[in-house]
Amino acid sequence: MISFQSVTKSFREGLTALIRVNFTIEKGEFLYLIGPTGSGKSTLLRLIYFDLLPSAGEVRVANYSSSSIKRKEISTLRRKIGVIFQDSKLLKDRNVYENVAFALQVIGTPRREEAKRVLEVLGRVGLTQKRHVYPYQLSGGEQQKVAIARALVRNPFILLADEPTGNLDPESSDEILYLLKDIHTSGTAVVLSTHHHELTNKNPFRILRIQLGVVTESS
Ligand SMILES: Nc1ncnc2c1ncn2[C@@H]1O[C@H](COP(=O)(O)OP(=O)(O)O)[C@@H](O)[C@H]1O
Ligand SMILES: [Mg+2]
Repeated sequence: MISFQSVTKSFREGLTALIRVNFTIEKGEFLYLIGPTGSGKSTLLRLIYFDLLPSAGEVRVANYSSSSIKRKEISTLRRKIGVIFQDSKLLKDRNVYENVAFALQVIGTPRREEAKRVLEVLGRVGLTQKRHVYPYQLSGGEQQKVAIARALVRNPFILLADEPTGNLDPESSDEILYLLKDIHTSGTAVVLSTHHHELTNKNPFRILRIQLGVVTESS
């Protein structure tokens, strides 16, 4: 589903070398991306949703290749890739329901279908009761759940989670991890980047380690 072939991404001010021939992510897989700050985790994830293109090598996602994908195709593909970050990046002037609904409105989903899908994902993350509440009235963990709901509402084939528990206490982190595992169980691939190795002990899944931009696999 996703493959990296001899990929290098370099930046003007420094060099990140993301190298691994035939590194692949299969449909529905759960994968940890572990590495210290500055090792290239976010860069690798951005290469997956073509927010960055490799300097050398090829990234293939679904049926698209970094060497031939067109701008228009990138927007189409991104509708099917969910991304969440350390900061939930919610719209402050919209309530929980509206934040999630917005992700459907920008791709022209009919209103009736919108309500059905938004309520369904809010149920999945356990925030139905809080649908009229504004982001500032939520805990950090709840805000991340809204971000997850917003990513899920478009039925992505993969969810990229870039240090989603970075700002959370252990209890909220566990809840987020539980949700991500549930998402994986229902068939969506999940890539979870973190610099916290402990997370992987409690929930063993495939691990990619990244150090100074070099990716290696370990189990
Ligand atoms: N746009 C950019 N321009 C220059 N250097 C960058 C850019 N983005 C990332 N880098 C550098 O690439 C390396 C990897 O960054 P990043 O992928 O953000 O790592 P991580 O997410 O693991 O903390 C770092 O040294 C960072 O400074
Ligand atoms: Mg990062």
